[in-house]
Amino acid sequence: MAYLKPDKPEKVYLPAIRAAKEKGESLVCLTAYDYPTARIVDEAGVDMILVGDSIGNVIHGYGNTIPVSLEEILSATIAVKRGTERAMVIVDMPYGTYHINPDETVRNALRLMKEGGAEAVKLEGGRNRADLVKRLVDEEIPVVGHIGLTPQSVYKLGGYRVQGKTAEAAERLIEDAKQLEEAGAFSVVLELVPREIAEIITNELKISTIGIGAGASCDIQVLVLHDLIGFTFGRQPRFVRQYANLREVITGAIQKWTEDVKSGNYPSKEESYGLPKEVEIGKIKEA
Ligand code: KIV
Repeated sequence: MAYLKPDKPEKVYLPAIRAAKEKGESLVCLTAYDYPTARIVDEAGVDMILVGDSIGNVIHGYGNTIPVSLEEILSATIAVKRGTERAMVIVDMPYGTYHINPDETVRNALRLMKEGGAEAVKLEGGRNRADLVKRLVDEEIPVVGHIGLTPQSVYKLGGYRVQGKTAEAAERLIEDAKQLEEAGAFSVVLELVPREIAEIITNELKISTIGIGAGASCDIQVLVLHDLIGFTFGRQPRFVRQYANLREVITGAIQKWTEDVKSGNYPSKEESYGLPKEVEIGKIKEA
């Protein structure tokens, strides 16, 4: 069989993630929801791109991830995939797309892979998702688990708080992580988990942990791109380190352009088009 469209040799697939864990090499993951940001993130050398259901907060302004639909995440995935050459593209299964039954879950995950180009899917939950993870993995679908703060449970949890703060809750988290590994997940997101618990989980699992608000021991760090570049609104959680303020940059550019238009400074002659010399303007006016 001829492989007509070979990947870049450095393209990140599961073996690269496993090898990094074995070597103790840290990897990075960022969210993207469209072609330009995916392309920038990929070209910057990020190892994994997550088409997160945080698209609900960041792009659609829903306020939480509950309303995000399969079609919304699919459309974002298609664009992200077009902008990505090296990074692994992981896609969140939105709330409601893996809750009805295993067959429907597989069907939805397959749509993300076949129509969107997802290379792995992520779903929230621990031991309660173990059978589902196993089923997906049995169908050749690479799966990332997600425990700790699971934003799709926001109504049940009553807010976005650090999870696993009691000995009992911490033990549950550790057991959840082990069950996800056992079920075949190749990685597990630990969101808003005390760093000591994240360290235990990272040390006890053979698969990689992906931390967000879970301290420095995790194998992989993930952030929402828009938080990192300051292209967002409201107070940021303490784990966010903002490396740029794009909101300020964008506002400044828009204000300057508005000023230039109003003062007659934009567009200049060079920024517009003239008639070819052979066309006589006088004749046009007479017509
Ligand atoms: O949707 C998302 O962006 C996520 C990350 C916070 C891990 O799930």
